[in-house]
Amino acid sequence: AISIKNLDNWFRKGVKEDSWHLTYYSFNKEEEKLRETLCTVGNGYFGARGCFEAENASETHYPGTYIAGVYNKTPTLVRGRKIFNNDLVNCPNWLPIEFRIGNKGYISPLNMEVLNYKQDLDMHNGIMERFITCRDSAGRITTIHTRRIASMFNPHYAAIQYEIIPLNYIEKIYIKSSINGNVENTGVDRYNNLNSSHLKLVSKGKTDDILHLAVDTSHSKTRIAMNSKTIVYENNSLKYAKRTLLEDRAKLGEEIEIIAKEGRIYTIEKLVSIYTSLDKNVSNPEEAAREDISKVNSFRDILEPHIKTWHSLWRNANITISGDRFIQKTARLHTYHLLATASIHNKNIDAGMPARGLHGEAYRGHIFWDELFIFPFYNQYFPEITRSLLMYRYRRLKAAKKYAGDNGYKGAMYPWQTADDGSEETQIIHYNPVSGKWGPDSSRRQRHVSIAIFYNIWEYCSTSNDLDFLHDYGIIMLLEIARFWASIAEYDEATGKYHIKGVMGPDEYHEKAPGSKEDGLTDNAYTNIMVAWLLDKTLHIIDGLPQKVKKKVIKTINLKPSETDKWKAITYKINVIIDKNEIISQFNGYLELKELNWEKYRKKYGNIKRLDRLLKAEKDTPDRYKVAKQADTLMLFYLLAPEEIVSILKNLGQDIKDAHKLLKENYDYYVKRTSHGSTLSMIVHSNILKYLKDSETAWEWFTRCARSDIYDTQGGTTIEGIHAGVMAGTLNIIMQNFAGISHSREKLEINPRLPKHWNRLSFRILYKENWYNIEITRSRIKVRVESEGTLAVYSKGKRYTVAGSKPKTIQY
Ligand code: BGC
Repeated sequence: AISIKNLDNWFRKGVKEDSWHLTYYSFNKEEEKLRETLCTVGNGYFGARGCFEAENASETHYPGTYIAGVYNKTPTLVRGRKIFNNDLVNCPNWLPIEFRIGNKGYISPLNMEVLNYKQDLDMHNGIMERFITCRDSAGRITTIHTRRIASMFNPHYAAIQYEIIPLNYIEKIYIKSSINGNVENTGVDRYNNLNSSHLKLVSKGKTDDILHLAVDTSHSKTRIAMNSKTIVYENNSLKYAKRTLLEDRAKLGEEIEIIAKEGRIYTIEKLVSIYTSLDKNVSNPEEAAREDISKVNSFRDILEPHIKTWHSLWRNANITISGDRFIQKTARLHTYHLLATASIHNKNIDAGMPARGLHGEAYRGHIFWDELFIFPFYNQYFPEITRSLLMYRYRRLKAAKKYAGDNGYKGAMYPWQTADDGSEETQIIHYNPVSGKWGPDSSRRQRHVSIAIFYNIWEYCSTSNDLDFLHDYGIIMLLEIARFWASIAEYDEATGKYHIKGVMGPDEYHEKAPGSKEDGLTDNAYTNIMVAWLLDKTLHIIDGLPQKVKKKVIKTINLKPSETDKWKAITYKINVIIDKNEIISQFNGYLELKELNWEKYRKKYGNIKRLDRLLKAEKDTPDRYKVAKQADTLMLFYLLAPEEIVSILKNLGQDIKDAHKLLKENYDYYVKRTSHGSTLSMIVHSNILKYLKDSETAWEWFTRCARSDIYDTQGGTTIEGIHAGVMAGTLNIIMQNFAGISHSREKLEINPRLPKHWNRLSFRILYKENWYNIEITRSRIKVRVESEGTLAVYSKGKRYTVAGSKPKTIQY
C-alpha cells in the first residue's frame, strides 16, 4: 500500500532522462497558462491544452481543444459595423475529471493545500503527466497521478488515466467524469468583445457505458461528436461503482461513487473518441465515434500503439546534441509541438498549418506565410506532411483565383490570413490595446504570402523528388501564382521598368507612403526580387516538364506565349532601388524617411517591440520612419544565397561586385532599424549570419528564439498558442547554420559551424528519397547512407562518395 512515508518513491516513478522531458516541480498560478500551452497533447488531428482535469476556463486556467480545420465564422457589431471573424473553434472539453470527498462539494485539488506537485511532458512517448498531493480543510491528504495522451496511432482517440490515492482516510469519494460542450472561445483577452460562442447542442446521452455528445458549429455547420467511456479500478482490479448521470445543457457526465480506503489506488480510465463531419470517408461522425470507443477497453489499449508511433516519428526527427542541455531539450520540445500540430495523419485532414498551432486561440488559428519557416522541418523528416499541407493550398486554388480576380488581377493570389474555405480572413479593423482604440488594418496587402507558397512548392519538389505532385498539382499552383505576379506588375514607359504597387512587405509597420491616401507601398524589394526569382524559376520548370505534362498544363490554364514573354521581361526589368552604398531600399521612398529616435522610445516605453501600437497611440505613425517590425529586405538572404541575389540583380542591371559585402552592408543597416516585434525576425537574423561567419551574433539571436516560447519572453503571447514558425525556425538554424546543411545547388552540402561548446550534433535527414545519417563532431563529419547505391555529399566544395554500409569520415 502507498503511505505518506513511501510516497516519495512512488512520486519519483517516471523520472526519466531529462532531455526528453519538460518538467515543473511546483504549481505556479502565474505560469499555469503558459505551461498549459507547452504541455499540450496533440496528433495533427486535434490538440488539447495541458489544463488540469478539474479546471474550467478562469484567470489561471484555460482548457482548449482544437480540431484541425474546424472553424466558425460569426459576426460582431463593432463601432456600428458588422465585422466577421473566423475562429479555430474551441471544441467540447473532454478533459473534466473532478473529485470530492464525503459530503463536501467539488473543489479542485489545486485549490486545496498543495503539498507536492510535479508536471511533466514526456516528449519521447507523447504523454502529459501530473502528480499532486493535496490536503483539504479537514486534513485529508490525497495523491493524484494523471496521464494524458492524444493518440498518435489513431488520431480520433484521446485518453486519460487518473489515479487517486487517499493517504490518511477512509471515506466515500465521488468522481465526476464529463464532456463539456458549454465552452466558448475566450482564450485571448483582446478578443473578448467579439462573438465567442460557436457551439450548438445537437444531442447528448448515455448508451450502455458510453457517454455521447454531438454539437454543431453555428455557421460552418460542422458536426463534432465525442464519446467517452470511464472505467474504474481498485489496485488494478476492475471495480464496480455506482454511477449517476449528470446533465447541464451541452455538458454531460457521470458521478462515480467509491468507498475509498487509505493507501489503495483508485484508477479512473477515461477513453475518448472524436470525429467531425469534416473527416474523410466518414458519413456519420456520431456512429464513427461510437464504433471507435467500443473497440477499446483500457488506457493501455490506446497507450501502447500511441507510444510505438511516437517512437517511429522520433526515429526520423530526433536531433542529438551533446554539450548543451537546454538546446537539446528545446529542440525536442519544438519537434514535439510541430508534430502535435501537423502530423502523418494530415494526409486525411484538409487543414493548413496554423501559425499558433492547435495550442491556443491567438490569431484565431489562422494560417499565414509561416509555412515558409516550417516546411523545411517537414521536408527533412516527413515530406508526406509537407505534401498534405500543400494539398490544402491546392484545394484552395480556386478561392485564390477568385481573390485575385476580385482585386483586378489574374492568376492566383492567396490570402494573407486564411482558415477553412481559402478566403481572406484578415481583419479590416484592428484593436490597439495601447490606445484602447480600433484602427484600420491593411495587413492583407501582404501579398508576399503567394511568394512563400511558390517557394514552398518548389522546395518540397526539389528536396523530395515528388514529380507526381509537381505534375499533378504543384505546377498549376506555380503557374497561377506566376501569372498573378505578372499581372500585378505594371510596366511604366517613363521609367522603362515594371513596378508592383499597393503591397506590404513582411514588415507590417509600413502600411503606406507617409501622407498618401492609397494603401500599400510601391516596389517592396523583397517582393520584387523574389518575383524576378520565381518567374525565372517558372520558366525553367516549364522547360523541364515532360512534353505530355507540359502540353496538358498549358491547355488547362490556357497559358499564352505573350504571358511567358512578359514573365521573362519582368526578370530583366522589375524595379529595385539600391543606393550608392549598396543599401537595398525596402520600398520606394524608404531611404527618404525620417530616422526614429530609438533611444527616446526605449527610455519612454522600455519594451518597444510593438512600436506600431505605441506610435499610433501617440497619433503618429511608423509610416514616417525608417523602422521595421521584422526582417523584410533581409528575408531575401533567408531564402536565397547571396550569390543568387547578386545574379538576379545583375539581370536587373545592378552590378554588385561582392555578394557578401551586399549582405553585410544591408544587415548592418537594417538590424539597427528593426524592433523584432515578431520573433520570426530573430530567426532570419540568426540564420543569414551563416554567410558572414559571425557565429557569436548568430548564437545570440538563436538563443533568444530558443527561449521565446519556453519562457514566453514576449510576455503573454505563448499562453495564447505556440509560435510554430519560430519553433521550426530554431530547428532550421541548427540544421542550416550549425550543421551547415544546404542544397541550394541541388547537391547535399555539409559545412558545419558548431557552436563553441557543442561537442557533437547528430541527426538523420531525408534528401531526394535517401536517408543520410550525419554525425558532426568538432573536426569531423561522419556520414552514413541507408540505401544500396553510392551517393555523394559535398563539403567545402569537395565531393565525397558514400556507399551504403560504410560510414564516410570527412575532416572539416
Ligand atoms: C508576424 C507575421 C506572422 C504572424 C503569424 C505576426 O506577428 O508579423 O509575419 O505571419 O505573426 O505568426
